[in-house]
Amino acid sequence: MRPEKNDLDHAVALLQAGELVAFPTETVYGLGADAANPVAVARIFAAKRRPADHPLIVHLPADGYLDRWARDIPSAAWELAEAFWPGPLTLILKRAAAVPKVVTGGQDSVGLRVPAHPLALDLLRTYARAGGGLSGMCGIAAPSANRFGRISPTAAAHVREELGNAVPLILDGGRCPVGIESTILDLTPAESLPPRLLRLGRVTPEQIATVIGVMPQIVTRPPDGDIPRVSGSLAAHYAPTTPLRLVPPARLFEVIDLLQSTGRRCAVLFHSRLPATPTAHTCRRLPANPRAYASALYAALRELDQADAELIIVEEIPATPTWAAVADRLQRAAAGGGASGA
Ligand code: TXA
Ligand code: MG
Repeated sequence: MRPEKNDLDHAVALLQAGELVAFPTETVYGLGADAANPVAVARIFAAKRRPADHPLIVHLPADGYLDRWARDIPSAAWELAEAFWPGPLTLILKRAAAVPKVVTGGQDSVGLRVPAHPLALDLLRTYARAGGGLSGMCGIAAPSANRFGRISPTAAAHVREELGNAVPLILDGGRCPVGIESTILDLTPAESLPPRLLRLGRVTPEQIATVIGVMPQIVTRPPDGDIPRVSGSLAAHYAPTTPLRLVPPARLFEVIDLLQSTGRRCAVLFHSRLPATPTAHTCRRLPANPRAYASALYAALRELDQADAELIIVEEIPATPTWAAVADRLQRAAAGGGASGA
């Protein structure tokens, strides 16, 4: 018998058996497994074709589960959890002894967050009520449910496209409202030092500073070997297979005309205005508001990637702090350089 759509008991049974379940979060879809079960976690790496030394984020039902997964938890972590969880903030903390090495990529730290999507929370709570997997740890390890180096999925159909047969169950929670991955904050430096912001996201450095009284140090492009590996910090991450170029608004039409006059098919992502006359290439327009833009960005890039164009042109967004997380993703997509990228 086919399990009902979004059957949480079925999802929990799969997790307890060490199988994979894809599920929506408020940021992007995650590819989940029992975080306390090394065999299950190894399946995530295989399905994503992700290098084994990249650490995963562990999703928890509530902040009350933090001390099963982390040790020496600084007061800033509790303050941030109180302010932003459930929500799109991942905290890097020193790992508890019980955390399997495969989850942390062999590091002494672990990434933890409580997601805000109702279906993700339902899954985590049902899982906890059913015993919470091996050793009753109640954590679901979940990277974004895409193949390594590709755009994160923001709809169940994207997960099916990317991972289809590799995942026995994909829970469908519709479109992910935030649309870009969580902010990652490293709280492992000594308390006398500012925490390090490893990935920009919906939760901004200013919001973090308001809660803990210290501005985090932004280190989203770490030099080799200095800082814990963050796959999202690779320059060529989040890339479509079609090459992508950012073009300033003032030069947009000139560049499009030039490409067209040389017979090159291009797909264009606007946010300010659409060309007055219909053009031969594919156009998509996103709202000129950073939150709404982020929410629709990955779905739009997927669409443009499938438009059979030789080049995706993205109208450059404003260089202001409210656009910083979106700018970060676009720069990485542009660095991807097409199919030969990450
Ligand atoms: O919004 C999100 O964070 C989504 C949803 C599913 O929760 N997850 C996500 O996972 O984006 P992933 O694996 O695609 O990206 C997680 C990032 C990786 O770049 C990983 O290197 C970093 O978190 N990370 C995890 N644990 C870490 C640690 N101990 N130290 C440094 N970075 C860590
Ligand atoms: Mg990812």
